[in-house]
Formats: sequence, C-alpha cells, structure tokens
Amino acid sequence: MKTISCFSYKGGAGRSTLAINVVPFLAEELGASPEHPLILVDMDMDSCGITYLFNLDRDVDKEYNVQALFGSGQIPRARGSIADHPLFNNLPAVGNLFGLKDAESVLCLPAEPGAAISGAGN
Ligand SMILES: Nc1ncnc2c1ncn2[C@@H]1O[C@H](COP(=O)(O)OP(=O)(O)OP(=O)(O)O)[C@@H](O)[C@H]1O
Ligand SMILES: [Mg+2]
Repeated sequence: MKTISCFSYKGGAGRSTLAINVVPFLAEELGASPEHPLILVDMDMDSCGITYLFNLDRDVDKEYNVQALFGSGQIPRARGSIADHPLFNNLPAVGNLFGLKDAESVLCLPAEPGAAISGAGN
C-alpha cells in the first residue's frame, strides 16, 4: 500500500486542507477504484479536520477510528471491494464530493478523540 503523509510539528499548518485537496489528483494518478480505493485518514487525534471539513456523521467515528484500525499493528486485508470489509463498511465514501465517477474510490476514515476502540483487530 502506498502511503503519503502530510506532517507538521505545529497545528494549523494546513495538513488537512492539503490532504483533502490532493485527493482528486491522486485518485486519477493512482487509478483509484472500489477494488483499490484511496483511503484518507486524519491521524490528528486532538482535532480531526477531515471530520469537520467533510461534515461527516460523527456516529461513524465511534466504532472505528485510526487506533482501532492500526493500534493492533494489523491492517485488515479485504477481498473484493474494501468497502465491503467489516472494518470499512460503516465508513463514508466521499468520492462524490470530488466529482469522481465512483464515490467508493475514496473512503474517508476520520479519527476522533475518545472514540471507542472495542472491536479492534477483528
Ligand atoms: N494554502 C493555504 N493558504 C491559506 N490558508 C490555508 C492554506 N491551507 C490551509 N489554510 C487555512 O489554514 C487553516 C488551518 O488549515 P488546516 O485545518 O488544514 O490545518 P491543519 O494543519 O490540519 O490544522 P490542525 O492542527 O487543526 O489539524 C484553515 O483555516 C485553512 O483554511
Ligand atoms: Mg488537521
């Protein structure tokens, strides 16, 4: 899996804005599809800009978050569409926000402080 990080030592430097705005370019360059989706993760546990910038349903955050997915050191492997995997099927696809043909080609995994991590590693 290719991983691209937007990192800075201080807050408010534009990480979330940059990550979101390069999505349409990356989706095209990397040939994102439901089988090989682009996954956008905000690992800022204190202030998750993606949750707010996409106005996502906060209920989604309660079950799965970055810690739940990566805290165990295991990255779930899905057959077929990753969106059908139990760890992902409750997460929002946001490709339509970018005018992409298939909304599933971009999945957004918002991090959220205090989110429950029960269910991790299943
Ligand atoms: N290139 C830019 N030019 C001007 N303003 C920008 C630019 N990039 C981001 N901003 C603005 O700066 C502010 C912070 O951006 P953003 O939330 O993306 O930063 P962040 O590093 O993710 O911050 P946080 O610490 O809250 O996670 C926002 O109001 C955003 O609109
Ligand atoms: Mg941010």
